[in-house]
Amino acid sequence: MRYAHLPGTDRNVSVIAMGCWALAGDQTWGPQDEAESIATIHAALDAGINFFDTAELYGAGLAEEVLGKALYGQREKVFIASKFNWENARYEKVILSCEASLRRLRSDVIDLYQIHWANWEVPFEETWSALEELKRQGKIRAIGVCNFGVKDLSAILSLGKPVTNQLPYGLLFRAIEYDILPLCREKHIGVLCYSPLTIGLLTGKYKAPDEVPPGRARTRHFSCSRPLTRHGEPGCEAETFAAIREIEKVAEQLGLTVVQLALAWLLAQQGVTSVVNGMRRPSQARENAAVADLTLSPEVVEQLRKITDPVKEKLGPNPDMWEGSARSRFR
Ligand SMILES: NC(=O)c1ccc[n+]([C@@H]2O[C@H](COP(=O)([O-])OP(=O)(O)OC[C@H]3O[C@@H](n4cnc5c(N)ncnc54)[C@H](OP(=O)(O)O)[C@@H]3O)[C@@H](O)[C@H]2O)c1
Repeated sequence: MRYAHLPGTDRNVSVIAMGCWALAGDQTWGPQDEAESIATIHAALDAGINFFDTAELYGAGLAEEVLGKALYGQREKVFIASKFNWENARYEKVILSCEASLRRLRSDVIDLYQIHWANWEVPFEETWSALEELKRQGKIRAIGVCNFGVKDLSAILSLGKPVTNQLPYGLLFRAIEYDILPLCREKHIGVLCYSPLTIGLLTGKYKAPDEVPPGRARTRHFSCSRPLTRHGEPGCEAETFAAIREIEKVAEQLGLTVVQLALAWLLAQQGVTSVVNGMRRPSQARENAAVADLTLSPEVVEQLRKITDPVKEKLGPNPDMWEGSARSRFR
């Protein structure tokens, strides 16, 4: 495993982080067995992963509970990131959310506490002062944001500096390259890439759009005629699957899996601190952790960029994977 310094902290985190959303077994992911989740967390630890990302949103606290159970007795070895819900941005609610997360995580402290989505109905000053109070009380060690576009990040920077911005980023979703990634680089804010496999799409499992189950076909890649979508856009199914076929060919030539290639490409991007990758089986944790030791040649990195340019162009600069431009939760 390779470790990176997390800007603004004294901690080194694994460049492959384990994302715990799927442990919730919700409508996106389908049922998840707790014993398998715990075995996956232990396999991740054994493979050198020390960074775990969760949220109060995932399974209404269930993912935090499972993580707390699995890590009990090993807390000092790991770096835990969690998030509070959009509707809990008021001062008192931030404090209460954090305390509830700590109980579920069976821990005295959260290493990185993140705003999950910006709530424009609550002044950032109010939310930020609650986060600073939690830091003063020693309940959190660092403050991060997620899904903050240029306007929101600039506004929060006038109050204080979040150490990270967690953003959707992967070969099939490159909208952050337009403006928010350059700003994070300029301000030395660590970028944590979420959904690097586009919710499991970039795994070689699906050969055609119709094979993708509704829970996973909610992103803007898919037509708004798909059930559970809310973006109202035509999608880009043809471009997405044409790119997947090309990526598969490159992976085969290099003797890698599509997953390994997709994660290694992200690790080659400047400004990326860690890739927050969802894993729900021990074999996935082992395969994905091993990517930290892979380095792609600049030619392959460029080839993959060109292959996925048509998807990037069709989806445009809106970094919201689920909502169309008119209702984007990024600004
Ligand atoms: N801040 C935010 O707003 C936000 C939003 C979304 C996600 N996140 C974070 O980012 C994390 C990762 O994103 P994600 O869960 O959406 O998706 P992802 O990393 O793009 O995809 C993860 C899924 O891909 C499949 N997979 C993983 N490794 C594999 C392998 N080696 N071979 C085959 N299939 C494999 C697994 O599902 P199957 O086995 O079922 O196919 C896994 O659950 C989340 O868990 C969460 O922590 C944050």
